[in-house]
Amino acid sequence: MSPEKEKQTLLLVDDEEDIRDVLSIALTHSGYEVHMAASGDAAIPLFDKIRPPIVMTDIKMPGMVDGIELLKYIKRVNPDTEVIMITGHGDMDLAVKSLKHEAADFITKPINVEALHAALRRVGEKILMRRQLQEYTRRLEAMILEKTALRDRLSSLGLMIGSISHGMKGLLTNLDAGIYLLRSGITKKDFNRLEEGLDTVRQTADRIKKLVLDILFYAKERTLNIRPVDLVPFANEVAAGIQHKIQGTAIELVRDFEHAPESFQIDPDFLRTALINILENAVDACLEDTAKASHRILFAMKGDNSQLTIHIHDNGTGMDSEALEKAFHLFFSTKGAKGTGFGLFITDNIIKQHGGTITVHSAKGKGTRFTIRIPAPEKGGEQSGPGR
Ligand SMILES: Nc1ncnc2c1ncn2[C@@H]1O[C@H](COP(=O)(O)OP(=O)(O)OP(=O)(O)O)[C@@H](O)[C@H]1O
Ligand SMILES: [Mg+2]
Repeated sequence: MSPEKEKQTLLLVDDEEDIRDVLSIALTHSGYEVHMAASGDAAIPLFDKIRPPIVMTDIKMPGMVDGIELLKYIKRVNPDTEVIMITGHGDMDLAVKSLKHEAADFITKPINVEALHAALRRVGEKILMRRQLQEYTRRLEAMILEKTALRDRLSSLGLMIGSISHGMKGLLTNLDAGIYLLRSGITKKDFNRLEEGLDTVRQTADRIKKLVLDILFYAKERTLNIRPVDLVPFANEVAAGIQHKIQGTAIELVRDFEHAPESFQIDPDFLRTALINILENAVDACLEDTAKASHRILFAMKGDNSQLTIHIHDNGTGMDSEALEKAFHLFFSTKGAKGTGFGLFITDNIIKQHGGTITVHSAKGKGTRFTIRIPAPEKGGEQSGPGR
């Protein structure tokens, strides 16, 4: 609504009843909602109560608070209020003083209706301009925020493309190696070579699949689909998801779902991705650790109807303080071509989307412990919202 058409509140202060009567009729006729006070002392509480955008006050009034004092008070409390002073004959000094204290205008008694309207018009334009300026500033701020978010997103996309290309280069080299083994296995009819080549190709295909899924996950905004899920079958399915990675290694995966709640509200697809990421890291850390003869990964779920707690502990390489600090950062990876640094970033997002927390303790050479806590959604409300 334009402030010109909006019915504006105006506080009229004058100790002379006749002037109040005449002015209030003229102002009401011009569309103002007029409130009146007969003295500066009475005007202050009324001003505090109604906070009008315009005040019209006599400059000379009996009592503690005269027009100038009232003007000073109003400008101190709300500098945006426009104050028009009503001055008598010979009050020029006071009128000039009021302008110094930022009165918007002054009109002289006896009041000329045209002069009154001209003063009100000027004040109205001032208020309108101020509002427009505030609106422009607000929009400008919103635009700057939007641009900053866009710039951040673009630079993270640039980083992502660089990082993916780097990861892809490594994977393509692996693929070449696999194809070479397959070709020479066929030529030499060497069954071991064929198997080795096939293994390399299969592992590389798995990594490409994971990378592409991670990119898709990152690129698309999604909302959770929270629903009650039977936890033990879910946990076993997650564990089975990394079983192929530990087959033939000296890693033992210990499952402990005995104290898991029977059912819990989660998004199983999202949570599966999150847990597999942590479990894959655990396997990587165990495979990389040559200091111990055998390794163990504990995957445990417990809790009750109000909270689900998931532990994933490994006795692999552990992390140094830098890795521990940056583990959840996007693109942080210590695995060279074998890692992209997506895994824990996505995991962290998924757990946060569930309203949960994820903590990690790690000691170099000893191992790493991840703990995830997910609260049950409040009744009537569900965890949701897009990623990031
Ligand atoms: N269980 C762990 N033990 C030791 N280091 C870990 C463990 N989990 C994560 N890290 C460290 O945190 C880094 C980031 O992990 P993240 O899963 O985000 O990326 P990544 O495994 O390197 O690559 P991606 O998961 O994208 O294939 C890892 O490179 C590793 O240095
Ligand atoms: Mg990982």
